[in-house]
Amino acid sequence: MTKQVILGAHFPGVNNHTVWSDPAAGSQIAFSSFAHLARTAEAGLFDFFFLAEGLRLREQRGKIHDLDVVGRPNTMTVLAAVAAVTGHLGLAGTIQATYNEPYEIARQFATLDHLSGGRAAWNVVTSPDAFTGENFRRGGYLERGGRYVRAAEFVQATRELWDSWDSDAIVADPARGEFLRPGARRGRFEYSTENFGISGNFTVPRSPQAHPVILQAGDSDGGREFAAHSADGIFTRHSTYDEGRAFYADVKSRLARYGRSPGSLKVLPGASFVLGDTPAEAEEHARHIRRQQVSPQTAILMLEQVWNTDLSSFDAEGPLPPFDPDPESPSIIQGRARMYDDPVAVARKWRALAEERHLSIRDLIIEVTGRQTFTGTPASVAAEINRSVQDDACDGFILVPHLIPAGLDEFAAKVVPLLQERGVFRTSYEPGTTLRDRLGLGPARPAASWAAARREHADA
Ligand SMILES: Cc1cc2nc3c(=O)[nH]c(=O)nc-3n(C[C@H](O)[C@H](O)[C@H](O)COP(=O)(O)O)c2cc1C
Repeated sequence: MTKQVILGAHFPGVNNHTVWSDPAAGSQIAFSSFAHLARTAEAGLFDFFFLAEGLRLREQRGKIHDLDVVGRPNTMTVLAAVAAVTGHLGLAGTIQATYNEPYEIARQFATLDHLSGGRAAWNVVTSPDAFTGENFRRGGYLERGGRYVRAAEFVQATRELWDSWDSDAIVADPARGEFLRPGARRGRFEYSTENFGISGNFTVPRSPQAHPVILQAGDSDGGREFAAHSADGIFTRHSTYDEGRAFYADVKSRLARYGRSPGSLKVLPGASFVLGDTPAEAEEHARHIRRQQVSPQTAILMLEQVWNTDLSSFDAEGPLPPFDPDPESPSIIQGRARMYDDPVAVARKWRALAEERHLSIRDLIIEVTGRQTFTGTPASVAAEINRSVQDDACDGFILVPHLIPAGLDEFAAKVVPLLQERGVFRTSYEPGTTLRDRLGLGPARPAASWAAARREHADA
């Protein structure tokens, strides 16, 4: 059966993928930028708009890392504003499960779901570092296993809260003088686990999707298992065809033990793209963008992330350091997950490559980091996207433009029509559908059924 392609539009985040130095680059904070990307995505009939989240400014060698975009506004506030200037587009927000409380997050997403007519999605993340946790009450930090226990309980708690109202609880009947239907459930909840002991009345009546769509981003075994038992979709870095197929097979194979079908969890890699009228033009454009993304200073900082050593005296146009990295010292970068499991092996591989191809530090960093997922003509990019989806390397992509605000314009204008011609992408939004409907997820399963599936798995 031919699968339909799912497309998300990622408002790019605070890393060197986002080019702020280009004359066409606009504000990362002004509402006009969010509105432009969202409107482009909606004109292109995308499934959803997506915001990442970072809760502490990154530092390197004790200084704010200001070679990339620095700072971003609050996710929920931006999504609420975007809801007002769009009519169909899903609105996905990344929100921490480590530092927040279920009552508040359940309220925010249920409210967004009401305001937007059933378009809300929550990308549940845990936190990779204690540095970020310092911003929060109790330090907020948990080690990895504990974070996923808390995240699973957190999502279950929000589902219980969302279920605490009957869908027909509000009757507002002046003749009887009754606002609520007698006997209807109206927000009473009680939830008690290792991490939470909460009870009370939930203030937001049942929203159009009942449960906003739940995505998760986390790649470890614990993260994948969390997706399998608690999420509707997974945001991943595995965007290439071969890696994607392996990842897809892995996460989908985990679903049966929770009584779930393969279609109930959507696999959505983040993907970048560069278009050109000819393959050569696209390649040339991609080379130009890579040089914008990796300035001489950025090249040195990215090298330091592997060497874990101050390399500020090195020339980015010169050779790599002749010595090995120092993985034992405390990390020189803070506010970002550690990127390399074995830095010494990575460094040796990079040095060999640089020597063989006579690459400077900057040329090497351009070569080995952050390649574009798709580079080509609109026709070849549409073909590659479709191949990945049909061959089960993913169910669609969350596209990350390198420029704000207009970085998605060309894709929406040129690639989307080619996906439509292939019959794998909608040609209009179906009126009256929620994001959940559009993603083919079916109606929300009651909270109790999610909990029962996890219990049965634990007992098995
Ligand atoms: C594709 C992807 C996107 C992520 N986006 C965010 C984000 O926007 N904000 C955040 O705090 N963490 C983000 N994370 C971090 C994860 O939530 C998680 O903390 C981290 O990956 C460590 O968990 P793991 O060991 O299971 O991968 C992201 C992770 C991945 C894989």
